Amino acid sequence: MTLPESKDFSYLFSDEAKSRKPSPLKTCIHLFNDPNIIFLGGGLPLSNYFPWKEISAISPKPPFPNGIGAPIKNADEEAIEYIIPKAKAEIREEGDIPLERCLQYGFSQGQPELLKFLRKHTEVIHKMDKYSDWDVLATIGNTGGWESCLRVFCNRGDNILAEAHSFSSSLSAALSQGVNVFPIPMDEFGIIPSKLEFILDNWNEKAPKPKLLYTIPTGQNPTGSSLSDERKFEIYQLAKKHDFIIVEDEPYYFLQMGKYESPETRSSVEKKPTHEEFVNGLAKSFVSLDDEGRVLRLDSFSKVLAPGTRLGWIVGSKKLLTTFLYLHEMTIQAPAGFTQTLVSKTLNSWGQDGYLDWLIGLRHEYTVKRDTAIDALRQHLPVDIRDKTTNEPLVVVNPPVAGMFFVINIDASQHPKFNTEFNKDPKKVEKAFYEKVIQKGVLVVPGGWFETTGETVPPQPKESKVVLKPNEIFFRGTYAAVPLDKMKEGIKRLGVALREEFGL
Ligand SMILES: Cc1ncc(COP(=O)(O)O)c(C=O)c1O
Repeated sequence: MTLPESKDFSYLFSDEAKSRKPSPLKTCIHLFNDPNIIFLGGGLPLSNYFPWKEISAISPKPPFPNGIGAPIKNADEEAIEYIIPKAKAEIREEGDIPLERCLQYGFSQGQPELLKFLRKHTEVIHKMDKYSDWDVLATIGNTGGWESCLRVFCNRGDNILAEAHSFSSSLSAALSQGVNVFPIPMDEFGIIPSKLEFILDNWNEKAPKPKLLYTIPTGQNPTGSSLSDERKFEIYQLAKKHDFIIVEDEPYYFLQMGKYESPETRSSVEKKPTHEEFVNGLAKSFVSLDDEGRVLRLDSFSKVLAPGTRLGWIVGSKKLLTTFLYLHEMTIQAPAGFTQTLVSKTLNSWGQDGYLDWLIGLRHEYTVKRDTAIDALRQHLPVDIRDKTTNEPLVVVNPPVAGMFFVINIDASQHPKFNTEFNKDPKKVEKAFYEKVIQKGVLVVPGGWFETTGETVPPQPKESKVVLKPNEIFFRGTYAAVPLDKMKEGIKRLGVALREEFGL
């Protein structure tokens, strides 16, 4: 079956993107590697002056039978040692990127060997069977990828949409570019499609219509929520109806642990899924639903390999990615060569199957961490306390099905000072509890830090700005950053802080 081409969304581009031309110097750089051309055309240093003969690394070997966190021994049957030479002539394995190439200028889209792996991986995970001209573009991670999205689509004064609580760095990036971020109400399952629909159907047309939706569909930061396939489908239909681009920022996509089971019902032996079971069990991505090329997916190695790789990639239509490429030629040029060659070598040695083994192993680690965190929260937090008049619980913990974060929802109105000293202001409870947790020697961060507070000029109808539970505050914690014993102790301290603060 021949697939249709993506649509042209260039009319949504920013003025900056519309006026950008490809760098003329980049149009001839491919001739640098042409043996028939004596290249006197660009300021490329001779690779003889790169002070590295080779680089070597050792990584564990699939299928990682001792778990992905097991110490890596020297190269033996459990580890692979690779040596990446400088010269192409010394390359021993097909797919290796010689240092003389990866440390040179050029290849702004990414090194071909890495891109080839990522294209295949994207096909394995997202199928990409709805339009023909999709591709991938290497980035320096999702922070940089998002910054590029803003520059490609937004002018100062434009409006975009995001979850009512969202990753604060992403919100700051938009605000500092003069872009207004309008909040979309969410519950423990993420964006509520009917609320999004209401906002868009009733949009005050005197304000520019939103050009894009920024969403973190899996293990959302900070709420830990995950969008269901059904909600994603509804949101995608709204994107078509109201003509906006969806940017899905997905660093936590592979940490899909599934539903939390209490220790009584949890099975002690977890059966390792087959690759097929693993892939089929993953949530559908927005990019996999997209038959027009209006979704850009930001993927990152930060949470699955290491944040310091500073490497990620965008999946989207070639039409959109070309504009990103022109931007990157003037900004990052390309992700660092060391990173690209090393990550590419690791992935190509593991192969697509080996990488799936890694991701399965990683998910297992996070499942144990998530389960331990929720067990401890249920043990140490006063989850059974309810308000005598309203019967509302003081604390609610919804176990996340994906990602690195858990959230403690607190009914601020149950604070003993709420009606008096705190003037019924939940923010004052938030501040007081934040100070208390630090005093007790643990850190969780206030949900207020992540609030999406934007309003358009002129404003949207007041019904578009609903706050579902006005007296609810929340704190974000993570089970990612510390070993299990420390995490349990931290959660115990959290319980003490809550009891003291709420006079229990
Ligand atoms: C939603 C979200 N996007 C992006 C990032 C940063 O990703 P990267 O390290 O790829 O820039 C994070 C976390 O640090 C995040 O939570």
